[in-house]
Amino acid sequence: MSGAILWFTGLSGGGKSTLANAVGARLKPARPVEILDGDEVRTHLSKGLGFTKEDRDINVHRIGFVSRLLARHGVFVITAAISPYATTRQEVRALAAAEGIPFIEAFVNPTLESLVARDVKGLYRRALAGEIPHFTGVSDPYEPPSQPDIVIRTDAEPVDASVDRILGALVDRGIVPAAVVAGPAPGADSRSR
Ligand code: ADX
Repeated sequence: MSGAILWFTGLSGGGKSTLANAVGARLKPARPVEILDGDEVRTHLSKGLGFTKEDRDINVHRIGFVSRLLARHGVFVITAAISPYATTRQEVRALAAAEGIPFIEAFVNPTLESLVARDVKGLYRRALAGEIPHFTGVSDPYEPPSQPDIVIRTDAEPVDASVDRILGALVDRGIVPAAVVAGPAPGADSRSR
């Protein structure tokens, strides 16, 4: 099976990492999967970068670069970074397309109100209090995709349903065989998986 890139984009705390891990877990039995998570990338590959437009663009291009390296070798790559700038995402997509690597843009789009209400990391409260000057969605821009391949309202749909829709979109595009997402055959011993 050839590689591909599933690119999640959306505001912090919206569920990109959760979905990336859940989709990855479903695909892993069938093919090599790597997840490039924004928070993790920023502790290794992009350590020292901040949140100016320039630094975010460098971060996103690095993630795109590593994604292409992996996808060239048959890895199914899942990325989970805010990636707030439409043009930058477009550039990353075009670079993948130039190599014939399938690229699926998944827009994680809960309401800002739901993010502020949940505020798992406490960042929205601090951003709204003016303590984080360039916080995406509050005091820094997020440019929504104009033609995402899939939109996920994580505030209105359970994770399992979102994962099924994403896998369905991958099957529809011929990126993943239907058998891979169908799960084990009836009667299969789950302990052997
Ligand atoms: S991106 O814009 O460069 O794609 P990335 O996904 O790597 O962002 O990192 C976002 C994470 O950094 C958020 O989930 C949050 O935990 C943290 N963070 C810290 N400062 C900011 C900020 N000013 N804006 C957005 N996220 C921030």
